[in-house]
Amino acid sequence: MIIGIPKEIKNNENRVGLTPAGVAEMKKHGHIVYIQTSAGESSGFSDEEYKEAGGLILPTIEEVYAIAEMIIKVKEPIASEYPLIKKDQLLFTYFHFASSEPLTLAMMERGAVCLAYETVEKSDRSLPLLVPMSEVAGRMAIQQGAKYLEKPQKGKGVLLGGVPGVPPAKVLILGGGIVGTQAAKMAAGLGARVVIMDVSLQRLRYLSDIMPQNVTTIMSNHYNIREAIAQADLVVGAVLIPGAKTPNLVTRDMLKLMRSGTVIVDVAVDQGGCIETCTPTTHENPTFIIDDIVHYCVANMPGAVPYTSTLALTNATLPYALQLANKGWKTACLENEELKKGLNIANGKIVYQGVADAWGLPYNKVESIL
Ligand SMILES: NC(=O)c1ccc[n+]([C@@H]2O[C@H](COP(=O)([O-])OP(=O)(O)OC[C@H]3O[C@@H](n4cnc5c(N)ncnc54)[C@H](O)[C@@H]3O)[C@@H](O)[C@H]2O)c1
Repeated sequence: MIIGIPKEIKNNENRVGLTPAGVAEMKKHGHIVYIQTSAGESSGFSDEEYKEAGGLILPTIEEVYAIAEMIIKVKEPIASEYPLIKKDQLLFTYFHFASSEPLTLAMMERGAVCLAYETVEKSDRSLPLLVPMSEVAGRMAIQQGAKYLEKPQKGKGVLLGGVPGVPPAKVLILGGGIVGTQAAKMAAGLGARVVIMDVSLQRLRYLSDIMPQNVTTIMSNHYNIREAIAQADLVVGAVLIPGAKTPNLVTRDMLKLMRSGTVIVDVAVDQGGCIETCTPTTHENPTFIIDDIVHYCVANMPGAVPYTSTLALTNATLPYALQLANKGWKTACLENEELKKGLNIANGKIVYQGVADAWGLPYNKVESIL
């Protein structure tokens, strides 16, 4: 198959869809990979490295889209890319169709085959192509939180781990899934006193078993959250209710319970956020202050560490991309339920219920296109 790797052009997106190692793997299986010049530069991969791995460099994004049967990307195509997409071209990338009607309509109109990373699903309902980015964001949440707790960053002036004779900071993590677990591990490793709250008793049992002594698990409810935020130096929002908007667990009036200089890192801001006062920010301007509380609400946190993020993402996507390239998308999806769940749009039809519901458009069974 002929595969194309365009350079990401979405604002501040530094990741790339395939690493040189991925190119070598594709080549080994007899596929041809075209990479747009400097596509991997911001992730630390030069054109030379791609060439050494057997890739072919093309100067423009137009040429990459024109030649490729399958495009492997990171973010959804933006408006300037829509006209480049060919009928029946397979696009394997994050789409998040439910948050953009223009994107949904454009992909239907272009007749593209859209296989979305975010809906590839395993039989245990886990989302293998979302997990790596949650792992990155969870770990980063503590790194960022620690930085913004510093006084010059308008924080409280507290060191997460304390020092001998001075108690460590208190970190409250709302949601004990992938993000919450990774955040808790980092905060605990730095010596902070950590509380994780979740509504799933089963999850709390598991976390209580595997976490070190400085991590406490507490049932998430309004009463417990009110008590805990008054004590916390750093609050991490890591809640997800699949298919629904994230609930506002910390409302605006509750900020008054928190001490001045407390830091909130709402990782869940990409799904609406679990702190009412959080609205999405960018890496260029990551924080704002309300009621003396520092809010960090970057919606694409992994974008700041593109080297780690690209490797983490492509470790997870490559086995699926190989199946698509080796078998063609129809056979690959017929033989692999996980991939089949990734199909969102093909032949101008929406084949994923959540996307059709989001825009009140007709839903077609995925079998109708296979
Ligand atoms: N900002 C970014 O760059 C970025 C990157 C990756 C992920 N995210 C977001 O982070 C969020 C968490 O992702 P995840 O992969 O950890 O999800 P996950 O499904 O693994 O975990 C979510 C957890 O929230 C818990 N939960 C649900 N309702 C709750 C409540 N009322 N109180 C406390 N806990 C509750 C669930 O039981 C679950 O354990 C998502 O919104 C995801 O989109 C953001």
